[in-house]
Amino acid sequence: MAARDASKISVDDLTNKQAKTEHARLQVEITEHDKRYYQNDAPTVSDAEYDALRKRYSDIEQHFPDLRTLESLTLKVGAAPTGRFAKVRHAVPMLSLDNAFSEEDVTKFVERIRRFLKLAEDEPLAFTAEAKIDGLSMSLRYEAGALAVAATRGDGAEGEDVTPNIKTLKDVPQRLKGKSIPAICEVRGEVYMTKPDFLALNKRQAEAGKELYINPRNTAAGSLRQKDAGITASRPLHFFAYAWGQMSEMPADTQSGMLKWFAKCGFITNPLTKVCRSAEELLAFHREIGLARAKLDYDIDGVVYKVDRLDWQERLGFVSRSPRWAVAHKFPAEKATTVVRDIVIQVGRTGALTPIAKLEPVTVGGVVVQNATLHNADEIARLDVRISETPGKPGDTVVIQRAGDVIPQVLEVVLEKRPKGLKPYAFPKTCPCPLKTPVVREINSAGEEGVRFRCSGEFACPFQKTEHLKHFVSRRAFDIDGLGEKQIDYFFEQGWIKEPADIFTLEARNAKLKLEEIDGYGDTSVRNLFAAIRTRREISLERFIYALGIRHVGETTAYELSRGYGTWTAFHDAALAVAKGDEAVRAEMDALDQIGDTVIDALGAYFKETHNRGIVERLTAQVKILDADRPASNSAVTGKTVVFTGALEKMTRDEAKAMAKRLGAKPSGSVSAKTDYLVAGPDVQTSSKLVKAREAGVTVLTEDEWFELVGKK
Ligand code: IVH
Repeated sequence: MAARDASKISVDDLTNKQAKTEHARLQVEITEHDKRYYQNDAPTVSDAEYDALRKRYSDIEQHFPDLRTLESLTLKVGAAPTGRFAKVRHAVPMLSLDNAFSEEDVTKFVERIRRFLKLAEDEPLAFTAEAKIDGLSMSLRYEAGALAVAATRGDGAEGEDVTPNIKTLKDVPQRLKGKSIPAICEVRGEVYMTKPDFLALNKRQAEAGKELYINPRNTAAGSLRQKDAGITASRPLHFFAYAWGQMSEMPADTQSGMLKWFAKCGFITNPLTKVCRSAEELLAFHREIGLARAKLDYDIDGVVYKVDRLDWQERLGFVSRSPRWAVAHKFPAEKATTVVRDIVIQVGRTGALTPIAKLEPVTVGGVVVQNATLHNADEIARLDVRISETPGKPGDTVVIQRAGDVIPQVLEVVLEKRPKGLKPYAFPKTCPCPLKTPVVREINSAGEEGVRFRCSGEFACPFQKTEHLKHFVSRRAFDIDGLGEKQIDYFFEQGWIKEPADIFTLEARNAKLKLEEIDGYGDTSVRNLFAAIRTRREISLERFIYALGIRHVGETTAYELSRGYGTWTAFHDAALAVAKGDEAVRAEMDALDQIGDTVIDALGAYFKETHNRGIVERLTAQVKILDADRPASNSAVTGKTVVFTGALEKMTRDEAKAMAKRLGAKPSGSVSAKTDYLVAGPDVQTSSKLVKAREAGVTVLTEDEWFELVGKK
């Protein structure tokens, strides 16, 4: 039999030879998925599919024990870290959990434990049942009560040092609260992003013309893996504590006692936790959480059961990569099968084209789904999703999933159900806009072909124009009450608002337009609309820059540009100079925080266009752009270079840096002859920075002395 077919044979029926081939194939496939999941934060299969592969792999090893070599994946957890961050060896390895998929698996788990511990039938056995948070695990090492190192799981033995990033999380105490804290405490738990925060972030990504994130889990992972902790700080990440690594002393003797202790230390523990005393109670709790799941504002993917008594946990110990005393009872993946009616192409503000599958409505996990993203042309080709050439006729049947509970995705095509005669989908060569401009494959900054297609119509494409206008009036830009997406579509269709400046001339033109006569409008709503527009005739520089909707210029970038240039005139002159290729101005802009080639190129490209310059000119004639707060030029530390080190107590490192910048000082990461001040936290006694500073004659300050110096006491 051909090796390929072995994948369809049940493990019990495999011959030795087939088992060997199948084991090797699965090993390659699982390793590849691990790499995508752990290193690229971009899994291509659902958790359920991954778990199934892993289960088959370990089942094969059970039937054919010779196949279990030192290379076996059952002895490894996750994939090796990416190497962008310093490596941290975990004092106690970070392992993972075995999965239970059925009620029977859970009953067996409880029986196995009773057997292993040789418990009499009437001997009570308690478990904690805890929601399994779908985020990424983190180990926080506290030394003498202060956060010393934060590390990701990595391959379980070695993770990445993400301490500066973790320090930006409000849920992570910099110091453990309470008395008699053990000298070494490694608190472990899950970093996650809430669903509403994820949606809001993706909305901002879309507004800035940037790639969208797939689900909260990947977003949290991506946010944490930022080299610049400032970016992590701008992403709302949270943390639940539920486990530990090295502890110099144990503050409790049960899992539930440890959870209480974490809460006392200042951590947040998950409220969906219960002590259960039988398999029935565990299962009842699983059902209860399963029902509550959709309403939670964070993703969970199961319930973890753990033997409560820690002395029993110790006796039970571990089997290969997971503890014998715990199991993860997964929820069935929220999947459904439905038919694709059509594929439509959405055009974003920056002309990026996103294919959307229009589906026969179907309920997935309590929500009716009619659209699913297909991401890009390559993804359609990979899935080979087909639609009928006759409008209204059904296309492929597909399996969809609400990934991370949020955006529905197409997982696969059910080939057996493909209607006859469907042809491979051809991605349109022209934009769906009335201009039908050709689409082009995006070229990234490295000059390589990207996965996205873009409409080449730019400012002439009416779809892009309306998207621009919608961005312009959106909440974080001009925020005009009564002028939302629907109104923009309508006014644009009527030809009344073609570009931003038209919004501000609407009132003057109303004698002719007579908005109050439109269905759904009346005198009051028109009056309110004009009042709302009038109040926006004054706007901060940062909002104004953001509202222009220049590619890659999101809120943070707009903020940095506004602080860097202070006035519209200064910024506008610089942008025009960059557009003309002025290298000196470019270098000046490059020196600003968070501003690099991508942003500068995008600004240059925008201001090079006569059309865009016209739009900006007509708009600035209508509004007053307020100057930004510039860094102070007369503080005690203006122009001085300052380094912050150690665990600061009154402010986070980022707050400290921001404060220094506001005061006109230059914060830096390392001590050199140019350093004027080193501000050291109380935990710093002998650090290399301190020694270097003393040698170089740098003034060393405590936090309080710093506050005194800058007059903030
Ligand atoms: S306990 C020795 N408890 O699930 C095992 N894990 O598949 C320690 N997770 O790596 C883990 N919620 O990232 C535990 N309440 C919880 C959890 C939880 C989520 C994650 C964690 C772990 C993975 C195991």
